[in-house]
Amino acid sequence: MSGYAWRSTVSRALSVFKSQTTVTRNYGSVIKTITLIPGDGIGPEISSAVMKIFDAAKVPVHWEERNVTAIKGPGGKWMIPPEAKESMDKSKIGLKGPLKTPIAAGHPSMNLLLRKTFDLYANVRPCVSIEGYKTAYSDVDLVTIRENTEGEYSGIEHVIVDGVVQSIKLITEDASRRIAEFAFEYARSNQRSTVTAVHKANIMRMSDGLFLKKCREVAENYKDIKFTEMYLDTVCLNMVQEPTQFDVLVMPNLYGDILSDLCAGLIGGLGVTPSGNIGANGVAIFESVHGTAPDIAGKDLANPTALLLSAVMMLRHMGLHEQSRKIQTACYDTIQDKKVVTKDLGGNAKCSEFTDEICRRVRDL
Ligand code: NAI
Repeated sequence: MSGYAWRSTVSRALSVFKSQTTVTRNYGSVIKTITLIPGDGIGPEISSAVMKIFDAAKVPVHWEERNVTAIKGPGGKWMIPPEAKESMDKSKIGLKGPLKTPIAAGHPSMNLLLRKTFDLYANVRPCVSIEGYKTAYSDVDLVTIRENTEGEYSGIEHVIVDGVVQSIKLITEDASRRIAEFAFEYARSNQRSTVTAVHKANIMRMSDGLFLKKCREVAENYKDIKFTEMYLDTVCLNMVQEPTQFDVLVMPNLYGDILSDLCAGLIGGLGVTPSGNIGANGVAIFESVHGTAPDIAGKDLANPTALLLSAVMMLRHMGLHEQSRKIQTACYDTIQDKKVVTKDLGGNAKCSEFTDEICRRVRDL
């Protein structure tokens, strides 16, 4: 499959909430292996919840569980364990819980390492209001697409002289074009009307200027999609005033990191926001975007919704539409019903009770 066609397929697959467009990935009833990285803290609890719900929905998958910790490879280079890399290389699809990144651990963030290892260049986060889960906003329906590999997170930092450090923001033509193409393909495949490039090219004329230039060039090839450009600060202001005006937003790494969390806040927070990371070589890792929640880890209090909805995105990516629809419906219905929901969703249920309720509904569908 050409890079273009592949991107198109993936874009369609990532439309979790808005459209139910079919993807032509023909796994049929063949059992597909998924690399599961349960992660740390609440990671194992919410991963178990997802596996239980998948069982209830009779999803034809086999989980290959792998731990991910930073190890030192030849030449002192940080890497993920070879077993995890081999599994991902083979399966091409991963589901990942949160990973702790101790400050001053001496190694890079595990999430960063995973992104680099598999060149996961696009982070896609659909933020859609959940019916029955009241927040300050309703009818939010937008998608943030974040360039995941460079920008402010290139990790190029050094001391110039004592007391002066420098961090380099790296923007390349190739990565900017690649993410812009992804965003437009996503919009086209998901019946979205507008792509907004978010930038600060007024201040960072060269770096954001290049990013914006590539977005403009790519927009020329997608006349059916409206293209707008906005300063990051204006987007933030408008986002909290009237988020329904936004559709698909594409941006460099740091802006995407911050803005995607802000958008998650509009629909109820990181506990209910799914996410997918798409790589250049056909690898895709779906993940919950919240952290390891050490304060509630091991207490059966975690809300597994974010990981579950990320798993729903993953199922669409695999072409398993029937199961993904069932699981998503059961999850939304459970939240809307409000009777058996976790504390962060305004209820008193344990993670296991919430999970069992979703399983019950899945079986009834
Ligand atoms: P956090 O997201 O773990 O916790 C913030 C608050 O949200 C806590 O009160 C926590 O109990 C709550 N919370 C988070 N997820 C929840 C869920 N699913 N259900 C119910 N409540 C939930 O953020 P924090 O404390 O800043 O980070 C803790 C660790 O997680 C750090 O080591 C950090 O590096 C790591 N982290 C990992 C991420 C990832 O792997 N994607 C993302 C963010 C943080």
